[in-house]
Formats: sequence, structure tokens, C-alpha cells
Amino acid sequence: MSTRTPASALFWRILASNGVIFVAGTTILALSPATVSSPVLAGELPVLTGGLALMVAANALLLRSSLAPLVRLNALVARVGALHSGDRLAVGGQGDLTDLVATLNALLDRVEAERGARTAHVLAAQESERSRIARELHDEIGQTLTVVLLALKPLADRAPADLSDDLAAVQEEVRASLVEVRRVARRLRPGVLEDLGLTSALTALAGDFSTGGLAVERRLEHVPDLGADAELVVYRVAQESLTNVARHSGARRAELALAVEDGAAVLTVADDGSGPPGREGAGISGMRERALLVGARLTVDARPGGGTRVRLAVPI
Ligand SMILES: Nc1ncnc2c1ncn2[C@@H]1O[C@H](COP(=O)(O)OP(=O)(O)O)[C@@H](O)[C@H]1O
Ligand SMILES: [Mg+2]
Repeated sequence: MSTRTPASALFWRILASNGVIFVAGTTILALSPATVSSPVLAGELPVLTGGLALMVAANALLLRSSLAPLVRLNALVARVGALHSGDRLAVGGQGDLTDLVATLNALLDRVEAERGARTAHVLAAQESERSRIARELHDEIGQTLTVVLLALKPLADRAPADLSDDLAAVQEEVRASLVEVRRVARRLRPGVLEDLGLTSALTALAGDFSTGGLAVERRLEHVPDLGADAELVVYRVAQESLTNVARHSGARRAELALAVEDGAAVLTVADDGSGPPGREGAGISGMRERALLVGARLTVDARPGGGTRVRLAVPI
């Protein structure tokens, strides 16, 4: 007995299909009054052609059903390249090729589970490293700048008139640096997310990006508690999307929206710039990886009317 690989099963199935057709054809020829003369007579031609057409049609029908799973498999393999989590073929119908489908599904389960675990690990490491840098920025550089500012105050108070303008300018520089350091620290570790919740963190983020030529409009509705992990994903997606708007789009206006739609919390970042992106870089694929981790769906496409729209739907 041969081992039952999908290939050998397919071989036997095709052989059997053709066997049935040949046996049927031969039986009909042997038992029916029809004969074929040599050379063939005009009257026999239609019968011959009809029989042939029947055999080809029956063969096509049988082969098509045998090979149908291959077509679906091919489509699945093509889809899987694009990070479609949980995308599987239904294991149905008769044996042989469906075994291959089941094997592939199991392989995908394993690969996706491993990829999920690896991504979670990398992202957790990244978040903790960011927290550390934020803490050091805030505690070390922030403290030093505060000390400098405090030391400048009595100097400015006692300085002769011709120095006081310069000293005031220096004080202003140091104060601005302190604000900047705190802002960078906050971006690295969204403390507001832990302290005040998602909506306030997003409000602060929109404020950070509303500078110079870009106006970020907010439409933030209240959404139910999504859990710390999902809220961090929403925050980081908003942050990366707004960074892209500021860095690549050349847009004058952007919109940051959070709303509940069909049982999901939906974050939208839309701009009226030069997008949508032609190719995805580390930023967008990073957003996809994060979305996958919390079972959310991310789409990056064209905004009606021009520009880019990033949409993240997190199931509630
Ligand atoms: N909002 C946007 N408007 C126009 N182009 C964009 C926008 N977002 C992304 N892009 C384009 O898509 C590319 C990939 O973005 P991304 O994956 O974030 O990588 P990166 O920002 O590191 O270049 C960008 O280099 C840019 O050309
Ligand atoms: Mg980017």
C-alpha cells in the first residue's frame, strides 16, 4: 500500500475519474448497436462527436471538483502574505486535498501564534525602553534645567540693567527647553494615558502636533474602557499616523477622531495631503503588528477628497 500523501491521493482520484469515463465509453460502444466504419461514414460522425463531447465534459466536471481545493489553497497562500490574521480555509468535502488544507491551517495557526508572541515581546521591550528614556529625560535633564532656572532667578534679579535683557532671554531659552524635554518625555511614555485616560492623552497629542502649518482638529467621543493594552495601541497608532502627516503629507489640516461604530472603538486620522502612501514602511507595518496583537483591524487608504485616512477598529 502506498502512503497517502495528497499527491498520491490526487493521482488515484484522477485515474479513477478517467477510468470510469473510459469504462462507460467502452461499455456503451460494446453493447449499443452503434458501429464505427473505416473510413468513417457521414452518418456516424454526429454520434462520434457527441460521444467525444460527453466524455470531455464528464472529465472536465470530475477534474474541476477534484482540483477546486487547490484553487482555494492558492488564493489563501497569496492572502496570507499580507498579515491576514485568522484567515483560514474551511476544511470540508472529501479527503485527500482537504488534508492538505488542514495541514496548512495548522501551520498558519502555529506561525501566527509564534509571530504574535514575538511581536508582543518586542513591543513590550520597546515600551519599557521608552519608559526608561522618558524617566531619565524627565528626572535627569528636566531636573538639571530646573536647577539652572532656579539659579538664574536671583542672578536676573540682581543683574545690572544692561545685562537683564540678555539674562531674561537665557531664562526664556531654558524654560522652553524644559517644556520641550517634558513634551518629548510625555511622547515617549504616554503618562497621560495611565493618569487621565485615552481621550485626554489623544487631546494632548493633537495639541502637540498642532503647530506651524498644521491644524489638527479633534472629534473625540467617549468610548468604553478598552483595557490598557488596546488603549496603548490606539495611542501609538494615532501618534505614528500624526507623525506621518507632519513628516510626509504636506497637509494643512488633519482630523483625529475617536468614535464607537458597530461594536468597535474606531480611531481615524485623516489628512488632506499628498497621500495615500504608495509603499508601507516600518511605521505602517509597526501599526499593523500592534493592531494584530489586540485583534484590531487597521486600514490605510485614500481619504475621499484627497489625502490619507488611517482607520483602526478595536473590538469593544
Ligand atoms: N499621511 C501621509 N501622507 C502622505 N504620504 C504618507 C503618509 N503616511 C505615510 N506616507 C508615505 O508612506 C511611506 C511609509 O510610511 P511609514 O511606514 O510610516 O514609514 P516612514 O514614516 O518611516 O517613512 C512614507 O515614507 C511616506 O512616503
Ligand atoms: Mg512613519
